[in-house]
Amino acid sequence: MQNFVFHNPTKILFGRDTIAAIGKETVLFGTNVLLVYGSGSIKKNGVYDQVLQSLTAAGAEITEHFGVSSNPVLSHVKTGIRLVKEKGCQVLCAVGGGSVIDEAKAICAGATVEHDVWKFFTGKKSVKSPLPLTTVLTLAASGSEMNSGMVITNEETRQKFGFANKHLYPRTSILDPGATCSVPADYTAYGAVDAVAHVLEFYFTTEDPATPVQDRLMEGLLINAMDSCNRALTDLNDYQARADLMWTATLALNGLTGAGLGKVGFPMHMIEHSLSAFYNIPHGAGLSAVIPGWMRYQAKQRPERFAQFSERVFDIREGSIQDKAAKGIEALTAWFTRVNSPTTITALAIPSEDIPKIAANAVSLAKVWRMNNYDAALIEAILRDCL
Ligand code: NZQ
Ligand code: ZN
Repeated sequence: MQNFVFHNPTKILFGRDTIAAIGKETVLFGTNVLLVYGSGSIKKNGVYDQVLQSLTAAGAEITEHFGVSSNPVLSHVKTGIRLVKEKGCQVLCAVGGGSVIDEAKAICAGATVEHDVWKFFTGKKSVKSPLPLTTVLTLAASGSEMNSGMVITNEETRQKFGFANKHLYPRTSILDPGATCSVPADYTAYGAVDAVAHVLEFYFTTEDPATPVQDRLMEGLLINAMDSCNRALTDLNDYQARADLMWTATLALNGLTGAGLGKVGFPMHMIEHSLSAFYNIPHGAGLSAVIPGWMRYQAKQRPERFAQFSERVFDIREGSIQDKAAKGIEALTAWFTRVNSPTTITALAIPSEDIPKIAANAVSLAKVWRMNNYDAALIEAILRDCL
């Protein structure tokens, strides 16, 4: 176990009827509020009305910034920054999934500086004093509701870059599982895949050989992500399944799993971000297409770790360490198939001729994230194994 600092300042209000508190929680930081949301799902499921009622009752003056796209784009972030500056907003309230929350974080960062907000994403500038943010989460997936990260696509350069900064944790996030019952089956599955990927990234890249507490925590999250997703897909309105999936996804990327692991990487995300940057596919769908190929590569470096994963997550007990590792990868791939998430990049209609272009794009993110062991040749080889 390595030394670590764990400091997650986000206050979570979890459960039924918690959305009613968003007004009170938000005006703690100012009454001039920018309300950020996507393309209309919150109007269909009633969440928008609940949020508006609560904000209004708390005395908020509301400016709306809507139309955030799935895989949010830089130009829309910049529109939001201009709006905040023009209206003098003091606090942002994001209502949606990871895309909406991520865009709101980027606006919070960009609203208090004069330079191009993209400089934060390329590491040329560091966030010092962003505006505060509250959120109402409507999709279990990204973990953005309780972490300090965000991912934005620069449409001009086709770079989908992410960064994290300790000042960008949401101040309060409201997690009402009932708000996720309207998420359709495909995005329910993609969200669960994303949570699984967040756990796997750290589980398979930790360099520390002795992290038994974190291992059991991560293995539990993996089992629960798959199980609660299966139950939610059987009945989209199963509150208990939605609650289990929601909290699992939050815990999968709120810093807890990585505490004590030392240096970890995010290689599957590094590769997937290039896929969703070029083809605008759902993040979770891109991940399930990349994960099996990356795991086959990584299992050659660390077969024991993969054998442990297979034994503890899928109860695979027979065979050599290599056999167990291979069977665990097959079992996870079978689960992706079960929930209808693609398991190859061919299934995403991505042509093999594009692989060099995707790899070159991924290398630029690998450099920003300091994952120097990933060059274009290695990423190309992994992608060819994902065809
Ligand atoms: O546009 P709206 O109306 O919001 O509709 C969304 C969107 O079409 C819809 N949706 C959301 N809640 C719903 C709902 N539909 C019905 N009922 C509801 N309750 O679902 C679609 C997908 O939403 P989106 O926010 O794009 O999904 P997700 O939460 O998976 O976020 C994906 C983004 O998060 C980034 C990804 O790269 C991607 O851009 N990530 C952010 C991370 C972070 N901040 O830490 C980490 C992740 O690895 C991830 O990279
Ligand atoms: Zn992710």
